[in-house]
Amino acid sequence: MNPEELPIQLPVPLEIKPATADMLPLIVDLDQLCLGGLWTIDGYQRELDSPNSDLLILQRLDSPSVVGVACAWAILEECHITVLAVHPSYRQRGLGQALLYDLLLAAHRRGLERATLEVRVSNQAALSLYTQFGFREAGRRRRYYQDTGEDALILWRSQLQHPSFPQELTQWQQRMQERFNRKQGRIDLQYG
Ligand SMILES: CC(C)(COP(=O)(O)OP(=O)(O)OC[C@H]1O[C@@H](n2cnc3c(N)ncnc32)[C@H](O)[C@@H]1OP(=O)(O)O)[C@@H](O)C(=O)NCCC(=O)NCCS
Repeated sequence: MNPEELPIQLPVPLEIKPATADMLPLIVDLDQLCLGGLWTIDGYQRELDSPNSDLLILQRLDSPSVVGVACAWAILEECHITVLAVHPSYRQRGLGQALLYDLLLAAHRRGLERATLEVRVSNQAALSLYTQFGFREAGRRRRYYQDTGEDALILWRSQLQHPSFPQELTQWQQRMQERFNRKQGRIDLQYG
């Protein structure tokens, strides 16, 4: 179901979980809406089939809907974040943080050392989100995006296996939970 058609009753029950094949059409719809059609259904199917890929969805528990999607590849010791998107009606509620948190947790559990991604220079929301999680700019690809000719910034987040990283994960989780609580239970998101 299209998330826009769902009433946002409080609290909204949500969960993040690995994507399944039945969810692929909804993931592609969200991709179209948020990312302009980055991948086709076959592209997402390849992610499901790959043992080196973590494809996560943020789903409402009260209906078969997808309100967020995130994907990362494990390549050698690196986590390459390829997709992160939240439905426009659900943004600025901490859900992008929750998805990024889960990707980094998955990367840590896989034993990966560092995480990287590319982001449009104009994408302030994403840049701000990644900076909160310790990503730093390490380079730039000139005119990387064909639609606008914009540059891509290359961000890296290192030390995913540092002894202090599990503690950082716990602190992020606590901050996210406090934020959900401050918003008077608007979101009821369980962490895995
Ligand atoms: C980037 C995106 C995933 C963020 O999702 P979200 O659920 O709104 O993010 P959150 O509510 O968790 O916000 C986390 C932080 O991001 C930043 N942020 C989010 N929206 C912002 C906005 N509109 N303007 C500025 N900063 C913003 C803030 O720093 C925020 O932290 P704060 O609320 O403590 O200040 C979402 O905007 C999106 O799907 N964008 C389109 C797809 C995209 O650009 N993906 C990234 C590709 S690299």
